[in-house]
Amino acid sequence: MILVVSCSLNPDSRSRILAEAVRVKLVELGHPVETIDLRETSLPMCDGVTAYGDPNAKAVSALVKRADAVVLAAPVYNYGVSAATKNLIELTGRAWTGKIVGMLFAAGGQTSYMAGMGLANSLMLDFRCLVIPRYVYADGDAFDGDRITDSEIERRVTELAREVTRVSTALLAADQP
Ligand SMILES: Cc1cc2nc3c(=O)[nH]c(=O)nc-3n(C[C@H](O)[C@H](O)[C@H](O)COP(=O)(O)O)c2cc1C
Repeated sequence: MILVVSCSLNPDSRSRILAEAVRVKLVELGHPVETIDLRETSLPMCDGVTAYGDPNAKAVSALVKRADAVVLAAPVYNYGVSAATKNLIELTGRAWTGKIVGMLFAAGGQTSYMAGMGLANSLMLDFRCLVIPRYVYADGDAFDGDRITDSEIERRVTELAREVTRVSTALLAADQP
């Protein structure tokens, strides 16, 4: 199962549009997909102690743990990923161990294109994640309302879905006895 997480809390989120686009592509490629939208599944702020016991935090952790791969669609805030995205990782920590991770970002402009690298580094170093070295970065010009209008972004979403599927399928096969 591939888990797609939409990390924005904004009701008019653009990264949510990217999440839906990659979900559709993954389904077309024949992989079972589950989704989480953090607007609907609210998570407490990680305090390093009690927040782990929150029912939503537990449910999200279990889904991450069960996933073969996790695809994060997130907003770029302050030249990095939004606090809600980082909070998700803080709350679910070890569930990420060894996951294949794909990333898509919505940003206001082009200058924050390296915004995902801190997250990628931490997932790689903390949890030995295999981060797909190809991510989608879309600014406001790529959208019209709730549609992606930039064909290059469409192409990159498709490429990311293919790559996540290809790597997941190969590693699952390699793990078979
Ligand atoms: C608090 C805040 C900080 C932001 N910082 C950046 C930034 O550093 N770089 C950038 O390109 N866009 C920045 N933006 C613009 C957002 O990335 C943009 O609105 C994007 O669509 C957010 O994703 P979402 O629509 O899925 O919530 C910021 C927006 C907010 C609200």
